Amino acid sequence: MWKDAKDYIKVMPAWKKFLWFGAVAAGTLLMLTFLIWAFCQHGTLGIFRVNGMYRIAFSVLICYTIALPLLAVLDVYLASRKPAGKIRLPSIFIWIIAVIAIILPSVLMGWVVPQTSNYAGDKAVQLLMADGTGKNGIPNLAVTFWTINPTQNTLKWGDSHINNIAKEDKPSQQHAFMLRDLQPATEYWYSLNDAKPVKFTTMPGIGQPLHFAVGSDTHFGAKTAQNDLTAKMLGQISDPAHDYQMFFFLGDLVEWGFIDSQWLKAIQAFSATTSTIPSRLVVGNHDTIMGGVNFYEDYMYPQPMELQTGSRLWQRIDVDNVHFLLLDLEWSADSYTAEQAAWLEQQLSTIPAGDWKIVMSHGYYYSSGGYDNLWPWYDDKDTIDKLVPLFEKYHVNLVFSGHMHLVELLQKNNVTYAVCAALGCLPDPERTYISPASTWYMSGQKAFIDVTVSQDNATLIYRDPDYKELKTLTVSR
Ligand SMILES: [Fe+2]
Ligand SMILES: [Fe+2]
Repeated sequence: MWKDAKDYIKVMPAWKKFLWFGAVAAGTLLMLTFLIWAFCQHGTLGIFRVNGMYRIAFSVLICYTIALPLLAVLDVYLASRKPAGKIRLPSIFIWIIAVIAIILPSVLMGWVVPQTSNYAGDKAVQLLMADGTGKNGIPNLAVTFWTINPTQNTLKWGDSHINNIAKEDKPSQQHAFMLRDLQPATEYWYSLNDAKPVKFTTMPGIGQPLHFAVGSDTHFGAKTAQNDLTAKMLGQISDPAHDYQMFFFLGDLVEWGFIDSQWLKAIQAFSATTSTIPSRLVVGNHDTIMGGVNFYEDYMYPQPMELQTGSRLWQRIDVDNVHFLLLDLEWSADSYTAEQAAWLEQQLSTIPAGDWKIVMSHGYYYSSGGYDNLWPWYDDKDTIDKLVPLFEKYHVNLVFSGHMHLVELLQKNNVTYAVCAALGCLPDPERTYISPASTWYMSGQKAFIDVTVSQDNATLIYRDPDYKELKTLTVSR
């Protein structure tokens, strides 16, 4: 029977062979290329696993890629059994789906790939906390920024007694001037290329209360993002009268991580706060999407920034006896690699019993919620199974997370979970599932958390954009 098919192909006019077989081959190859490319991107496996709509879309594309050449072979076989020269409807149908298979991946990759190297502009200065700690019990800091053209810069910095001058060795795009072994509770200044000096104060010394702010999920670039409310809350955090000594942001800074103009806008909006308060911006699933992880690393942990324990995506930060473990949990536990798990357990096991242990991540553990995109968005079984036993074994006190666009406090087995994805993002709908661990919940509310950790107690205050208290909780060590 395949002899008939061979004969059929032999007598087929050259133009028809080119148009028909060419379209099938090109469509199959392009679809395959697109799927391999997409699944090689950081975070795609997470989307596929967690998001029902994306899973259906990818599954359709995979079936399409397999079915196209099989249908083409079947069509040739069936056509060879019919009189030659007749135009057949199935052949036209296959040609149409082959053309769609050429157009679809070309459009998708043609949109995304150029964006990943299309830089929108220089990124503003930030004062970021580095992994680990300095000799005086507070984190090392870095003055960071990014330039489209490689540049060589000078930073002057110091306190009221000492002036330091640091010069970059060679021109580069990623910039980070390390400020090491700073003294606690001291006012410092820095001046980049002789610009107006910026002042900041380091965290307090041994035995003093630590005061910091936690916020999450701005989604710059989303049509629904309320950047005015983000700006208002960032203004509250950087207001000297409120005296925040550190600022943690828990991810989804931008809507589409591969679009650099969204990073430009976000860092511009954050810089007034993150250049004057030692800050750390944790990675979120929207930040890393389709190559966005490269932008995240370049802007939030540029290459010259030093690492003592972790990676550019997860870190430990110590301030005296308060220990922060900042994790890379994007969609869920998909980004929680064996390497990260080993690192986390090693860190937790080396922290003295009785010290404060605070975990922060974009992904959540316990949370109320409902269904979205055919996926249950509440008590995340995967993160609960993989991380909560560690939290309980090593007596983690506080766990902060974003990702769920709501504010909620939950407590289980002596661990307090605070969900706070409520800066400029679109709030999630009212919950249809109530987590058994939930102790307080609000939906549709913009907020950030004001945290004070003293020797024996930690106080968490959820504040709205006008700085009004929404909820206060005090937990003991
Ligand atoms: Fe988000
Ligand atoms: Fe998220």
